[in-house]
Amino acid sequence: MAELAIIGGTGLATLKNLKISKREVIRTPYGEPSGPLLHGVIGETDVVFIPRHGRGHTIPPHRVNYRANIWALREVGVCKVIAVAAVGGIRQDMEPGRLAFPDQIIDYTWSREHTFFEYDLEHVNHIEFTRPYSDDVRCLLIKASKQLDLNAVENGTYGATQGPRLETAAEIKRMQRDGCDMVGMTGMPEASLARELELNYATCAVIVNWAAGLGAGLISMEDIEASLATGMEKVRRLLETAIPMLQRVNCDI
Ligand code: HPA
Repeated sequence: MAELAIIGGTGLATLKNLKISKREVIRTPYGEPSGPLLHGVIGETDVVFIPRHGRGHTIPPHRVNYRANIWALREVGVCKVIAVAAVGGIRQDMEPGRLAFPDQIIDYTWSREHTFFEYDLEHVNHIEFTRPYSDDVRCLLIKASKQLDLNAVENGTYGATQGPRLETAAEIKRMQRDGCDMVGMTGMPEASLARELELNYATCAVIVNWAAGLGAGLISMEDIEASLATGMEKVRRLLETAIPMLQRVNCDI
């Protein structure tokens, strides 16, 4: 049974190095996940894969059923998650095409179903979230990226916006003042839901554009596509190296 899941983001709706052995439809108390869970192996390690935006990339960030996705992964025995996510770069070293492993989050999303702890509670539960990502998973991703000389950025604060529109230049300036280093639309509530269910969760961000107002001109979809292609090739190599290493990570949170 796979202990490790990969949540694919924009540009990673399929994992070409995953040999799929089973598709599993999971029903959850929170509705339908983004699609069936794809069970298979990468190298010799069992993994489960789910594309966050659905197979044909049809579910926008604010409509992703984050609760159902995380619940489904836990339901099949997953305890470690690598979440792949495309982001815009804010800090100077967050150049398009690079990978980054954020270590902090600021949440600007609103009106998303963001918790499992709502009804029928025996007591109110406040998860510890000082360090929102699993240090163990993050450190191994960093180690694997170093082995491969990927020149990835090893830390940064992920600002999660509501989408699906991109930000204004003024919003990005505000996020810069707040201390955000990258901006994406799917980082929350995925990370906190994973913590609520005690999954060891870390993000591999793929920087695909300069955030609004920081690049030479307006953000173009062609530029994003080009950086996505470069970045996702790095992600595939990273996963091949990191996944066997991740078997060492203990499931206890
Ligand atoms: N903003 C928000 N989300 C994103 C961006 C961006 O500039 N690029 C990729 N995902």
